Amino acid sequence: MIPQSPLVSAKGVVKRFGSLAALDGVSLDIAPGEFFGLLGPNGAGKSTFMSLIAGLRPLDGGTLTVDGAGVAAGSAKARRSLGLVPQHIALYEDLSAERNLRIFGELYGLRGSGLGRRIDHVLDAVQLADRRKDLVKEFSGGMQRRLNLAAALLHEPRLLLCDEPTVGVDPQSRNAIFDFLQELNRGGMTIIYSTHYMEEATRLCSRIGIIDRGKILALGTIDSLIEQLPFEEEIRFPSSPATAAILGDLAAIGELAIVDGVHRFRPRQGYPMSAFYTLTEAHALPPRLFTSQRPTLESVFLQLTGRVLRE
Ligand SMILES: Nc1ncnc2c1ncn2[C@@H]1O[C@H](COP(=O)(O)OP(=O)(O)OP(=O)(O)O)[C@@H](O)[C@H]1O
Ligand SMILES: [Mg+2]
Repeated sequence: MIPQSPLVSAKGVVKRFGSLAALDGVSLDIAPGEFFGLLGPNGAGKSTFMSLIAGLRPLDGGTLTVDGAGVAAGSAKARRSLGLVPQHIALYEDLSAERNLRIFGELYGLRGSGLGRRIDHVLDAVQLADRRKDLVKEFSGGMQRRLNLAAALLHEPRLLLCDEPTVGVDPQSRNAIFDFLQELNRGGMTIIYSTHYMEEATRLCSRIGIIDRGKILALGTIDSLIEQLPFEEEIRFPSSPATAAILGDLAAIGELAIVDGVHRFRPRQGYPMSAFYTLTEAHALPPRLFTSQRPTLESVFLQLTGRVLRE
């Protein structure tokens, strides 16, 4: 089988703002057709990476190509093959939804009845067809987000960059957006999706890059990332004077973290769970205090960074 050449290829990408390295040697390849998740906390470098792919800023080091060609800031051709859903809503507030889409479509070179059909299609897709004549400033935050997404899709880009597109969107509309993005991806669109939400990444993305402080900490499918963890189960129990008695013993046989007043114990590989329950019984701690679960993407993040991802 001939390996598919990547649609996006980053090698040692550096971006600085003054003395701060917002991206500090990012290397990753994204194949055509992937639904790639970029997961990281505030300030990790997600938006910076998106803006470089979109050619909105020059790099300070490394190489970055889209479809084999270097991304040059300002390249109109490259920009037409991709759509960017920016984190901060970029719409004209005093114009209607439809007028906004017309302006964005013309920017991408669409005209006439072709543009009209695309406007109808994207408005339907984000469930705003009945609000098309209304001014954007009269829209709720979630509706503005949906229109922001629609604007990036008018020209049917090959590559869609979604920078936290569902912040502030209600669960029902969020589901509709997910369905729509998955349908676009099945149709062949490559999607790069940044998020703080583990559930979104788990539900949508075929592969994930975990980014923190400008560096990629891990890269792979969610299953492969979970399999690489040095433990197979995570036990949660409340922090209380009673459970404090076992913390010392647990620290010797695995890793302990505390998140929102709940302890998370990750026993080292091969540690028998029966021994754990012998320990809790010895301290007369009732079993109902302890819940055991399979590690999740959040466990991976906690393991890599010592923190949980805040929303
Ligand atoms: N235009 C800019 N000028 C100066 N510093 C910047 C600029 N843009 C980003 N930074 C800095 O670069 C780092 C990465 O920011 P970036 O916006 O890429 O993070 P992010 O992962 O998108 O975070 P968030 O989840 O909060 O959106 C941060 O420390 C930020 O302060
Ligand atoms: Mg951002």
